[in-house]
Amino acid sequence: MSRAFAPSTVANIAIGFDILGMAVPVLGDRVSVNKIECGVVIDKITGIDNLPMEAEKNTAGMALLKMIEFEKLDHGFSVSIEKGIPLGSGLGGSAASAVAAVVAANELLDKSLPKEKLLRYALYGESVASGSVHADNVAASLYGGLTAAINLTNNIEEVGIIQLPVPDFHVLLIHPDIVINTRDARRVINPEIKLKQHIDNSMRLTAFIAALYTDNNIEKIINDGIIEPQRSKLIPDFDKIKKIAMENGAIACSISGAGPTIFVIGENKTLNDIKQKLMAINLPYDTDIWIDKIDNRGAYVI
Ligand code: HSE
Repeated sequence: MSRAFAPSTVANIAIGFDILGMAVPVLGDRVSVNKIECGVVIDKITGIDNLPMEAEKNTAGMALLKMIEFEKLDHGFSVSIEKGIPLGSGLGGSAASAVAAVVAANELLDKSLPKEKLLRYALYGESVASGSVHADNVAASLYGGLTAAINLTNNIEEVGIIQLPVPDFHVLLIHPDIVINTRDARRVINPEIKLKQHIDNSMRLTAFIAALYTDNNIEKIINDGIIEPQRSKLIPDFDKIKKIAMENGAIACSISGAGPTIFVIGENKTLNDIKQKLMAINLPYDTDIWIDKIDNRGAYVI
């Protein structure tokens, strides 16, 4: 038996929609894998009800089916999934299950596979949940740190990952107790953008990447004028939360992945103050609030 942990992730980071991701391991999924004669059997899922038990419909199951197919394995896997990341939270839960599954299964192979292959199988898994190929969550969960996923052809076989320098960021995560389905959150986005928006976002992304290689000064850079205004309508009181964060010293605040989780970047002390302020206001839902740092490690065998 082999068991692996894959961290939760903040995708997009406001200026890199479907590109940037960072690993924030305050939460994560754990997956145990055993060898069986053939196929993939999901034995058990704990932590979340109603996830599909059919391997083809489950992100971990599909990732392992692809590993068996492409590697021509002469055995199958049974799988047990412990969900630590809430469903539809915007923290990369579907990606984490797929990543933890391939990392655990890799331990059981006669010859272990390179990360590029694990990435590819986990992406097949992730696409079952979201219906699209976006590698931002999978890349950050597998590699750790801060990653850029380059997917120019929408073909899983051609996705490339860049591991970026990891800044010393503290991250506050506010998770409203509501569920947003990634497919639905992608449907609300207008596929057309104005030239001005494209230029503005390109400048911000360029400045952000440059700052990672120079002085890490990202103040006033991370701001999303394209996706956030469209998706924030799905998160009641998003504007109120962002206002409190930005008025109290945050460096950035936006939606984590498809939401509803909201991420805030700042100094540890600032984030603790913001957390206290947020806990004191009335919101139309319960919230979980965590503070963590970006972590270099990525998924690992436990
Ligand atoms: N980049 C994806 C999106 C991440 O925002 O739709 C989904 O978790």
